[in-house]
Amino acid sequence: MDITRLINEIREIAQRKKAVILVHNYQLPEVQEVADFVGDSLELSIKASETPAEIIIFCGVHFMAETASIISPQKTVLIPDYEAGCPMASMINEENVKELRRQYPRAKVVCYVNSTAAVKAESYICCTSANAIKVVNSLKDTKEIIFIPDKYLGSYVQSKVPDKKFILWEGYCPTHARILKTDILKLKEQHPSAKVMVHSECTLEVIGVADAVLSTSGMTKFARETDAREFIVGTEIGMLYRLQKENPDKKFYPASNKALCPNMKLTTLEKVFWSLQDLVYPVKVEEPVRSKAKLAIERMIALSKQD
Ligand code: 13P
Ligand code: SF4
Repeated sequence: MDITRLINEIREIAQRKKAVILVHNYQLPEVQEVADFVGDSLELSIKASETPAEIIIFCGVHFMAETASIISPQKTVLIPDYEAGCPMASMINEENVKELRRQYPRAKVVCYVNSTAAVKAESYICCTSANAIKVVNSLKDTKEIIFIPDKYLGSYVQSKVPDKKFILWEGYCPTHARILKTDILKLKEQHPSAKVMVHSECTLEVIGVADAVLSTSGMTKFARETDAREFIVGTEIGMLYRLQKENPDKKFYPASNKALCPNMKLTTLEKVFWSLQDLVYPVKVEEPVRSKAKLAIERMIALSKQD
């Protein structure tokens, strides 16, 4: 079936079944085209909490669908490919968090949303790449922060909040780790007027040569609002589609073509169609983990709504 026909058919079934299709910025172009909403992790969590739809089709990775299910247990949350996980989220488990809390009893646990529900349940508050600094700064009476699982995001936040002590975990994103400082410096030589924007999951070395350190949707805003005509983009290469589509007169160069997240690419248009048609694959977080994890997510969302 051709892509436009499939997209129309998916839209028609979604309307009939009262489903909303939420799509992460790294998804394949055609999956972005079928979305009700495309965004970063924070925006998608907020959309999931506010939507009146009865079914949420989450085109992203497993922790994102879990987050939606934690917030809205009465809704049917579906992921089109059950294998779409996030390797960083698998780098820590709830026992590791309990042990950290035993070791540092005065510290509060700040948990990057790229984590399992069980890990969130052992944490005080969640954060995303869009609000990590704000979340840590909100913990005014806490001097020690256990930041999990992303050591690169954690060390970036630490550099911006020097008055707190950080205990970091050895987790990282294998996709963003593939972006090297030398890649960016080479591109800078070829495009000297390009602005460098990088994701906060990049290494500190890469962050050190960036003009802006952003979440994925932060990048769309930066590209739109900055006068520059050219950008070097240090994140998963799926991001380039939306940037180019929204800014047809500007140029975007991927910092590295190796920065491809295989999990984000598992979702195809056909799988979205089957997901809606057969109501597969449900993602549901059981009690008591759900209620405990919800507290950590709600603390974060409440902070976002203060703006
Ligand atoms: P964003 O929250 O910036 O969209 O990032 C999610 C993610 O998985 C980045 O690798
Ligand atoms: Fe996880 Fe990295 Fe893929 Fe994001 S890009 S989903 S952090 S592996």
